[in-house]
Amino acid sequence: MKFLVTGGAGFIGSNYLYYVVEKYPDDTFYCLDALTYAGNYSSIAELEKYPNYHFIKGDIRDRAFIDSLFDAERFDVVVNFAAESHVDNSIKNPSIFVETNVLGVVNLLDASKKYHVKRFHQVSTDEVYGDLAFDQPDTFFTETTPLHASSPYSASKASADLEVMAYARTFKLPVTISRCSNNYGPYQFPEKLIPVVIEKALHDEPVPVYGQGLNIRDWIYVKDHCIGVDEVVRHGRVGEVYNLGGRSERRNIDVVKGILKCLGKPESLITYVDDRPGHDLRYAIDCSKAEKELGWKQTHVFEEGLKETVDWYLAHRDWLENIKNGNYRKSYHPQKKSLSRKTK
Ligand code: NAD
Ligand code: DAU
Repeated sequence: MKFLVTGGAGFIGSNYLYYVVEKYPDDTFYCLDALTYAGNYSSIAELEKYPNYHFIKGDIRDRAFIDSLFDAERFDVVVNFAAESHVDNSIKNPSIFVETNVLGVVNLLDASKKYHVKRFHQVSTDEVYGDLAFDQPDTFFTETTPLHASSPYSASKASADLEVMAYARTFKLPVTISRCSNNYGPYQFPEKLIPVVIEKALHDEPVPVYGQGLNIRDWIYVKDHCIGVDEVVRHGRVGEVYNLGGRSERRNIDVVKGILKCLGKPESLITYVDDRPGHDLRYAIDCSKAEKELGWKQTHVFEEGLKETVDWYLAHRDWLENIKNGNYRKSYHPQKKSLSRKTK
């Protein structure tokens, strides 16, 4: 089968590609990525050695380009990771979140419909459900929890989910959606909590904790998420949503202290800063549907996964440094690529 994987130069997309390209040598994977500030070609450069992998630079917002790409390549499966993904950015500049996360997705849906894609999978987030209360620890997001997004980011992801389901019902497009909790692991851009803390602590700089650090996230090791996406794409029922979660709720302050401990750095680096506007209190996923139907399960205990992650960043300090000094933006050389396309 021929797969289009969008957003594959980002954090989760790159981890997914490393997993599937090796696991399925008889399938072909086309990674489409616009290489925005969050895309890092150096993270996926190693994949070029596989004959069943190709990279295409291109933008899902470019409707004509998307149509011509689908016309030329006739993909069987689309797995859409491409998105603006950072909540803080969505508070500063909401409109690009609508352009990429909603209109970009509609471009992919239209092309998938026109060129008869056999499976369209949307990588979504638990944030579409809003948040849960601190004082009701027995409540969880299930697939039937109403959408109740809080931030411009989560509102754009919820809008995309609604479009995906509308294409399933109206046009009979064979779709699936997975909604996952907070990922951590290799190749995460140092704007998200865990790599921010690692990076700041390595330089003995103040580590910013929003509010009092009491907000709770449900952490999942990125590879467990990628295996879950693969299970849903291959074995999930058409038209269904599957929650994927870590079953590892932790307060932000405890995550931060855990990282400082792994690095042997003092807690005095912790600096409490202004809270995020509209800050979601608690996320907690009930992923029993994916566990029962697909036999999927998380394999990483949070504290072990966190230690592995810290070790990965320590072993890849050049990867972090190249982001800090901007060199990562120069890691893609289009003249060497036979499949590169013009983007707007
Ligand atoms: P990321 O920001 O690390 O990567 C996003 C990738 O998409 C980048 O490579 C970027 O260049 C690309 N991209 C952005 N706009 C594009 C466009 N217009 N056209 C083509 N490519 C474009 O994000 P991530 O953390 O890897 O998240 C991937 C997906 O998973 C997103 O859809 C996100 O909503 C979802 N998700 C993330 C998490 C998490 O904890 N990070 C959890 C659940 C769901
Ligand atoms: O739940 C899934 C979502 O998880 C994904 O859909 C998003 O794409 C992803 O970015 C993530 O969203 P969060 O907002 O939860 O992640 P972030 O790493 O930005 O923040 C995690 C928590 O840590 C949150 O409560 C805010 C807090 N925080 C974050 C940063 C960057 C801090 O206290 N300090 C920080 O510097």
